[in-house]
Amino acid sequence: MKSSIRVASAPAKVILFGEHFVVYGAPALLAAINRHTTARAKTISQERTIIKSDIGASAEYSDSGCKIVRGGKGAKEILDPVYDAIKRTTEAHGKKTGLRVELRSKIPHGIGLGSSAASCVATVGAVDSLFGSHSKNWICDRAIESERIVHKNSSGADCYISTFGGIMRYSMNEGYRKIEAKKRLHLVVSSTGIRHSTGDLVEQVRKFREANPSRFNELSKQAHNICTNALEAIELGQIENLGRLMSQNHLLLNQIGVSHEKTEALVKLNLGDGALGAKITGAGGGGAVIALASSRKEGARVVASAKKAGYSAMLVEIDHEGLTS
Ligand code: PMV
Repeated sequence: MKSSIRVASAPAKVILFGEHFVVYGAPALLAAINRHTTARAKTISQERTIIKSDIGASAEYSDSGCKIVRGGKGAKEILDPVYDAIKRTTEAHGKKTGLRVELRSKIPHGIGLGSSAASCVATVGAVDSLFGSHSKNWICDRAIESERIVHKNSSGADCYISTFGGIMRYSMNEGYRKIEAKKRLHLVVSSTGIRHSTGDLVEQVRKFREANPSRFNELSKQAHNICTNALEAIELGQIENLGRLMSQNHLLLNQIGVSHEKTEALVKLNLGDGALGAKITGAGGGGAVIALASSRKEGARVVASAKKAGYSAMLVEIDHEGLTS
């Protein structure tokens, strides 16, 4: 069989509103952003799976186990879900063949931008198109299963937004709803440089809630209101209002203890540079901060200042396509 190469690309995500509170039933707003992971897949004659990446992790999987080629123990956490995605997709097509998948990523890892989800979505997408072509829903379902190999209690929201793109409202009870933004959103994503463990932070919040039930309940109500108002602001193109709501959401996250002194410094810096609002995005405890700028030019200014202060920062826009292959 002559082997062709199939390529699929999937975007990163940010949580615009509602992280942590979403775990207890409040809504969250998520958006896909224009930073992607691309997977290139081809069948090979050897009976093994070779995964290469440009993020410092490479490995070979065969019946005798996993041989890490690059990246040490940390590589397994990155590559095991990708291997699972390859295996799951190949088996779903009833095939048994060696495969080589190469990942190229522009998504910083471990700071809550959904890099693992994007790798899984792109991998299922690329491998699927080697043997046929299923719907995005089919691809998303498999990617979610694979991502759960490392993120055991994942809601699946990262894979969902990466597969379908755009902006979504998500809640546990009501599922996903697409939101149309009236105006373009210019977002600055900066990193504190501190990697976080989502599981640990979710556990920390669980303890906070257990110790302060009525306070948490009150903060959760506020988060719900902020999210509802933010959705309206996005739909009506009220950018300044949206920025204010982001900063209000950040205060709630600070109060439940998931901020960090570097996060606070970064939020302050972004706001001092003219951002309309700034907040933690994702689990916190370091990780990433998003800020809303009034224009591309203003956003570039916020990025330049954050970089000058030693942070990594990028100006991003919403990705409306999600998975492409
Ligand atoms: O993994 P992160 O950083 O994108 O954060 C996940 C969002 C949380 O609300 C903290 C957890 C969850 O499962 O929704």
